[in-house]
Amino acid sequence: MHPDNYQYRFFIINMEIITTVGQLSERLASLHAQSRTIGLVPTMGALHAGHMSLIERARRENDIVVVSVFVNPTQFNNPEDLRTYPRTEEADCALLRQADVDFAFVPTVSEMYPQEDNRQFDLGPVAQVMEGAMRPGHFNGVAQIVSKLFAIVNPTRAYFGEKDFQQIAVIRKMVQLEGFSLEIVACPIKREEDGLAMSSRNVRLTPEHRAVAPQIHKILTRSVDMKSEGASVVDVKAYVVDAINALEGLEVEYYEIVDALSMQPVGAWDEAAAGAVGCVTVYAGDVRLIDNIKY
Ligand code: PAF
Repeated sequence: MHPDNYQYRFFIINMEIITTVGQLSERLASLHAQSRTIGLVPTMGALHAGHMSLIERARRENDIVVVSVFVNPTQFNNPEDLRTYPRTEEADCALLRQADVDFAFVPTVSEMYPQEDNRQFDLGPVAQVMEGAMRPGHFNGVAQIVSKLFAIVNPTRAYFGEKDFQQIAVIRKMVQLEGFSLEIVACPIKREEDGLAMSSRNVRLTPEHRAVAPQIHKILTRSVDMKSEGASVVDVKAYVVDAINALEGLEVEYYEIVDALSMQPVGAWDEAAAGAVGCVTVYAGDVRLIDNIKY
């Protein structure tokens, strides 16, 4: 952190809400010239305690904190999901102000995409499995928006939640392809007291689905114990899928045990050189919940 940061922060009294790329670049240019460290937290808004934990960490580790709030249309392969995605911009900005954020970047779609973005990122195998297989085009859309944000902000560090575990691997790949120089900081999943992974989509759960959804984490936790007791990958996978599907209102879309870096499914624990992670997607009615656990 810059030694003058304390004094500097004294002069930034209010968070600025910025809506254009030009304004944000202009504000950040002088801060870059002074070698201030900049932490970026990209979000799609509907902020919850999970996002706030990323922002708190960015606040601790950087001189300047920028949070983007933008529901990125190019990463939605399902128009209904885009239409119903919660949008709570005013409440988000109030939370960001309380969290001592310096700049809230809240652009419109035409500001971020003045013309169609036809870039196709060659993201390779990390993007071809799980979410990549289920949501065609999703990761390319994530790479489009995150690369735009990195180019505009040129952050020292960018913060992402491990709930979207595969997304972090895809972003690391995009960073390598584009030659960005920054640190990607992966932050642990934040959970409700009953274990449900925090997500902006949780507000769309019916009371019945909300009541049963915490079982996903309980079952994943039990599966870690099974591994310690000697169960194979095949047995653990069968247990997780069957136990979740046995619950009223929940249906597994996929459950894969993958290597933590390559994202490739493993058939035996010792095939996961970087450690094994179990990644699950579950439908609760029309709400798609995702979660994961490290073995
Ligand atoms: O994880 C998200 O909320 C989004 O995918 C991100 C990284 C903000 C890009 O739109």
